[in-house]
Amino acid sequence: MTEDNGSGGAWREQTNLVRGGLLRSGFQETAEAIYMTSGYVYESAEEAEAAFKGERQRYVYSRYANPTVSMFESRLAMLEGAEACRGTSSGMAAVFASLMCQLKAGDRVVASRVLFGSCQYIITEILPRFGVESVLVDGDDDAGWERALSKPTACVFLETPGNPTLEIIDLERVSQLAHRAGATVIVDNVFGTPVLQKPLELGADIVVYSATKHIDGQGRCLGGAVLGTQEFVKDQLEPFLRHTGPALSPFNAWILVKGLETLTLRLEQQCRNAKALAEFLREQPGVTMVRYPGLEGTPRAELALRQMRLGGTLLAFEVEGGKEQAFRVLNGLRLIDMSNNLGDAKSLATHPATTTHQRVPPEDRAAMGIGEGLIRVSVGLEDIEDLKSDLGRALAG
Ligand SMILES: Cc1ncc(COP(=O)(O)O)c(C=O)c1O
Repeated sequence: MTEDNGSGGAWREQTNLVRGGLLRSGFQETAEAIYMTSGYVYESAEEAEAAFKGERQRYVYSRYANPTVSMFESRLAMLEGAEACRGTSSGMAAVFASLMCQLKAGDRVVASRVLFGSCQYIITEILPRFGVESVLVDGDDDAGWERALSKPTACVFLETPGNPTLEIIDLERVSQLAHRAGATVIVDNVFGTPVLQKPLELGADIVVYSATKHIDGQGRCLGGAVLGTQEFVKDQLEPFLRHTGPALSPFNAWILVKGLETLTLRLEQQCRNAKALAEFLREQPGVTMVRYPGLEGTPRAELALRQMRLGGTLLAFEVEGGKEQAFRVLNGLRLIDMSNNLGDAKSLATHPATTTHQRVPPEDRAAMGIGEGLIRVSVGLEDIEDLKSDLGRALAG
């Protein structure tokens, strides 16, 4: 349920991040209130009947909508430039709902090969069980997208930058090809973030988030969101969410709505740290490859900077010596924590081949560019000199 915030649409992005969608109660509290309730009461039986008939807009049950969740949804929709948003219990609930609310047996889905492991599982294992054909394309293979989208297709699902190789996909071009094939384009914008990259402006139709990552930004709770047109949300997404139940907890929605207030500030500093760390890693002996979106001399750097305001908070690098050396580096870290989470104020490092992408068969991992020596770092808000010292010491052994 999104409501008018009184701005008349005039506030700028940062103001909306602090005040957009605010629903004050009769107590006139300063901060957003946590409406920790599962149900709502009616003045009369007639009012309940009208609410259930859809003749009266009001809260009826928190699996459908809740005022704290509404504040989060309105604020994120303003940031994204989307007509409507629905919160979900996790990022995966958002990904699954965005696909399942519109697909049926006999449909065809085209997806980027580099995907977060659970997204890959949905596309390649779950959807085919329900009669949906899935086709994977290398994100940077323009001719491959053209071939895959030369047939009628229901949905395109992609991540850019991709997890964990940070591969960049041309959103404008793939969206054009997808629309010609009749497909709806869904972008998992977790690495892009709603501040740095606006997929809807580049032609995508639906954007999904794991709000667990940068939107919370301090590693406290799970949450997700799906954004798109009012028509898509009302007619397709909302009935699916109402009846299958991946509702966002009001408490988590409150954490996320407060997270949005500082999102831009945190991201700008984290991006500065990430770029500086990527430049530092390039100079280190034993590092054979560094990926950071937009970094000079890396694939599709110019495209990354055209699509994103800054390169993001994640980088990936490959060490000589495969898994053994990657483990030695990870075990040698004293400041950066080993964790498969990302987007946190604390810097986190992981070995994708044995964690987030362990389930992906080795030959598919190789096709995705996830080598045994690849380490992914989610760069946080610590002092950059401390981050450099930690990685430098771990690399030196
Ligand atoms: C790109 C991407 N999409 C989706 C998800 C899933 O999010 P959640 O863990 O909130 O379900 C993740 C989580 O790691 C992710 O990195």
